[in-house]
Amino acid sequence: MKIHRVKSAGQGQALAAELFAGISDESPDSPVGLATGGTMSGVYSALATDGFCPKFSDAFALDEYQGISPASENSYANELTRKFTEPLNFQGKIHVPGQGDYAGQQGPKQFEKTITKLGPLSVQLLGIGVNGHIAFNEPGSSFYSKTRVVELHQETIKSNLVYFDGPASMPTHAVTQGLSTIKQASKLLLLVLGEAKEFALSKAINYPDESTPLAALLDHPGLELITDLNY
Ligand code: GLP
Repeated sequence: MKIHRVKSAGQGQALAAELFAGISDESPDSPVGLATGGTMSGVYSALATDGFCPKFSDAFALDEYQGISPASENSYANELTRKFTEPLNFQGKIHVPGQGDYAGQQGPKQFEKTITKLGPLSVQLLGIGVNGHIAFNEPGSSFYSKTRVVELHQETIKSNLVYFDGPASMPTHAVTQGLSTIKQASKLLLLVLGEAKEFALSKAINYPDESTPLAALLDHPGLELITDLNY
């Protein structure tokens, strides 16, 4: 694992944007992997500020809430349209699990087929949840998991509830790429920024088992960690 130590979240997001742009430009025929959440918003803003023009034509999202309309502000499909497609004038397609061609019972299988057909991804952007989740692979997920529907942990519901009107509108399930699906990407750019993530990072490194999904990534030869933590 290559480690980039940064002094602040902003510096980490700017570095991630620079690395993402460089790697994806080197392999314009390969798709990329996008992520969502507060950490990634800063990466996409930095890409826009840098005037980045995507050369790739396909991007894959990591996850999506189960059964949510892409018109909802809380859907990850919607978030990627607002934060990636529109500001960067991306003309290609973002494949989102659980949405469009990937909705319904056969959706996860279809998503796997498409990612295998168009992949491998040149680079996958990744953040982590406070419980060490990767995408929506919650603690206990198999390191060999594929794209599937999962139940969200209480801790995830608690931390993501701030984005919803209340518990009644917060989904309890999601569709997520599996840990082994994510590891098919040639490079993984993992951002672990802020004290809230320190426990999960330290646990993954010191006790790498299925109780911390982040641990599944540590043996990936193309893993680059960007962190402001002294774990
Ligand atoms: C969600 C996403 C994860 C993301 C996490 C962290 O739960 N499913 O893919 O890593 O949020 O988000 P933030 O960057 O806002 O802490």
